Amino acid sequence: MTSSEPPALRLLALHAFPLDGRMWGLLKAAAASGQLGEGVAVTAPDFRGRGASKRAAGPVHAMSLLAKDVLEELPDGEPFVVMGLSMGGYVALELLARLGPGLRPRLKGLVLCDSRANADDDAGKARRAESAAAIEADGMEPLLAKMLPQFLAPESRGGALEQLVRTMFLATAPATAAADQRGMAERPDRFDVLGALTVPFLAAVGDDDPLTPPSVSEQMADAAGNAPFVQLLTLPGAHLAPLEHPEEFLPKLRLFLDRCRG
Ligand code: MLT
Repeated sequence: MTSSEPPALRLLALHAFPLDGRMWGLLKAAAASGQLGEGVAVTAPDFRGRGASKRAAGPVHAMSLLAKDVLEELPDGEPFVVMGLSMGGYVALELLARLGPGLRPRLKGLVLCDSRANADDDAGKARRAESAAAIEADGMEPLLAKMLPQFLAPESRGGALEQLVRTMFLATAPATAAADQRGMAERPDRFDVLGALTVPFLAAVGDDDPLTPPSVSEQMADAAGNAPFVQLLTLPGAHLAPLEHPEEFLPKLRLFLDRCRG
């Protein structure tokens, strides 16, 4: 492929809460070295209110709002695969629910990592409201202390990945993270999207993920029974398993992308 040719496949990679698009640096590096296959290009946008996003934070970041933002940044004309980790997965499902007839033929696959398709129950919604208030009152440090052991398994701690996670956490403004929490609290159940899926689906999950455990990915894989191909991939690691174990994840992702291209 020369630089003037369009990429053969665009991987739209959506980030977790309360991180940013830098978490997908490993995908960009893998694509640049050809590890994801010929002509794969990666777009990993920052959701509103952080990083390079031109959009200011709002009071509530509904997943549908973030999906609309992301759709506006999707380059024209290219076939694409949507991928999201945790909150990025919630946004991915909203994005698929909103694909119009112009975009639907260009969608070639869905990858959900350490994510879920169900809505929060009342207790979960209440926990998010408390978390949003605590973030606004106390900032990001206490949330980082609580979530770091959930994000990274003990063997993944102490190195460059932990440093990156800390950097992204603390770069996120409290108002942005609180708006994300309020938006996640009101997200709908999206098993309907999985049930109607007509493209290949990969659900990847860390075997030690305390936030979205493997049983949740199993439910999503079961729900996608109409899709032409469904793969459940269990990785070692916790909530950021694909980043903790890229040596296991990236070769599997490449095979999946090859399949998406048909
Ligand atoms: C994330 O990693 O994006 C969060 O754990 C999502 C959530 O709070 O449900």
